[in-house]
Amino acid sequence: MSSNLVILTGAGISAESGLGTFRDPDGLWARFDWRELATPEAFAAKPEEVHAFYNARRAGLKTSTPNAAHHALVELEKAWIARGGEFLLVTQNVDDLHDKAGSERLVHMHGELSKMRCEHCGYVHDAFDEITTDLPCLNCRRAGGLRPHIVWFGEMPMEMDLIFDQLGSCDLFVAIGTSGTVYPAAGFSQVAKEAGARCIEINLETTDTSPVFDEVRNGQATQSVPAWVAEMVG
Ligand code: OAD
Repeated sequence: MSSNLVILTGAGISAESGLGTFRDPDGLWARFDWRELATPEAFAAKPEEVHAFYNARRAGLKTSTPNAAHHALVELEKAWIARGGEFLLVTQNVDDLHDKAGSERLVHMHGELSKMRCEHCGYVHDAFDEITTDLPCLNCRRAGGLRPHIVWFGEMPMEMDLIFDQLGSCDLFVAIGTSGTVYPAAGFSQVAKEAGARCIEINLETTDTSPVFDEVRNGQATQSVPAWVAEMVG
């Protein structure tokens, strides 16, 4: 096994758990306009509509369970660390399926649906139910400042220092279920490659970033991720 492993996941890993992707033909951004829902400007103009969109997605988490691909990554994390390797799972997903599966060395670079943040005091709370414009912050008690703890277009993703540190000393980089269209995540394979890492892409189909990868495996995540993990830990 290589010593420093960084894995990037996207919406494709959660597709077979019933959560929609963004850019597939029936994906979220084919049905909804992200400019109206996933920008700070949209939230400032129409907070009720933005809350309704994310409240519906948050409600969907209650009935979603991790699939074989999420579970396989937990098995890999345990095996990798037991052998003295470094491991970081970076997800672009705002769902909680890696958490529910038991991943520990995990960062949510685009935030989490199950959290909300107060724009008045910055406090981050759990959010299991609906967020409304009149909900008071549990920390500062002021109402009207709570927003989904989600990175919107035009905002800086989270944990970037940690992620780039790990990519800079990465031996193996694996991207799973992401279309490679949203930066900075779409550029991680190039950063890892320049650090000397072997790069593997696991996705339903080839993507615009496939040429950067040393190895491309196409297939459903619930089949291809456990198969790859079995090779790694076997
Ligand atoms: P996309 O919807 O752009 O891409 C999902 C990828 O998963 C596509 O390449 C699909 O072919 C693939 N896929 C679909 N089903 C699959 C399956 N069962 N097994 C394996 N692969 C499958 O989603 P992301 O790349 O995650 O950002 O999108 C990146 C970001 O764009 C998201 O985090 C979100 C969005 O705007 C924010 O909301 C900030």
